[in-house]
Amino acid sequence: MTAGSPSPDHRPSTVFSDAAASDYDDRVPRLVPGYALAHDLMAATFASLLPADARLLLAGCGTGNELLRLAAGGPRWRFSALDPSAGMLAVARRKAQGAGCESRVAFHATTLDQMPAGLHDAAVAALVLHFIPDDGGKAAFLSALAQRLRAGGALVLLDYEPVPLLARAYGQWLQATGLERTAVDAVLAKTGTQWHPVTDTRLRALLLESGFEPPRLIFKALGFQAWLAFRPVEPAA
Ligand SMILES: C[S@@+](CC[C@H](N)C(=O)[O-])C[C@H]1O[C@@H](n2cnc3c(N)ncnc32)[C@H](O)[C@@H]1O
Repeated sequence: MTAGSPSPDHRPSTVFSDAAASDYDDRVPRLVPGYALAHDLMAATFASLLPADARLLLAGCGTGNELLRLAAGGPRWRFSALDPSAGMLAVARRKAQGAGCESRVAFHATTLDQMPAGLHDAAVAALVLHFIPDDGGKAAFLSALAQRLRAGGALVLLDYEPVPLLARAYGQWLQATGLERTAVDAVLAKTGTQWHPVTDTRLRALLLESGFEPPRLIFKALGFQAWLAFRPVEPAA
């Protein structure tokens, strides 16, 4: 996973470049253990929770991999799919057209904070939060998600946790997917330089601070993990 360099139009440096979009779908399953399984579990979790006509917000939808999996799992679900990378969003749109679900998707070429207000039943932020520094940026991103969810709405967050023992196993797994040792070392170095991962304890605190209930783990693979967290249900008046 490669975030683009800071761009002349002052987009955040977390935004993926058009070049990154061109081979993202080849790279990502070899970089993220259990990538497809995480989507399957996300879809199963939402299918158990959401109404047939649910509205879902996909923040940082990239090339649309979770979009396509969720659109297949909920044939009447509608989506707000946003990504500030025009290149990534163009691939997502093309794939949605191919899968015949484009009419159920509103695409937004924007960051989450610029997204128009509007409440959703559920939200996904997959592989985005670890790019955002924990200097108020993560809390702002999670709060922006909370503000776009109805009371009782559900968030699935796919994120990376820095555990040295798991990082070494992650390196072994990367090598087993066919990556050269130098490329493996480059990925591992990036987790410490370009990524801003936080511990489970810190992530829980951030979610609580941002307006979510305590999260539950629904997937974990060598540091990559998916959390389910709800907005509190408002007390009856
Ligand atoms: C690693 S990709 C993940 C794509 C997809 N969710 C997946 O799991 O394959 C991260 C995406 O987040 C987008 N992104 C970066 N900063 C963002 C922000 N502040 N708000 C929304 N999306 C952002 C990037 O442009 C990129 O497409």
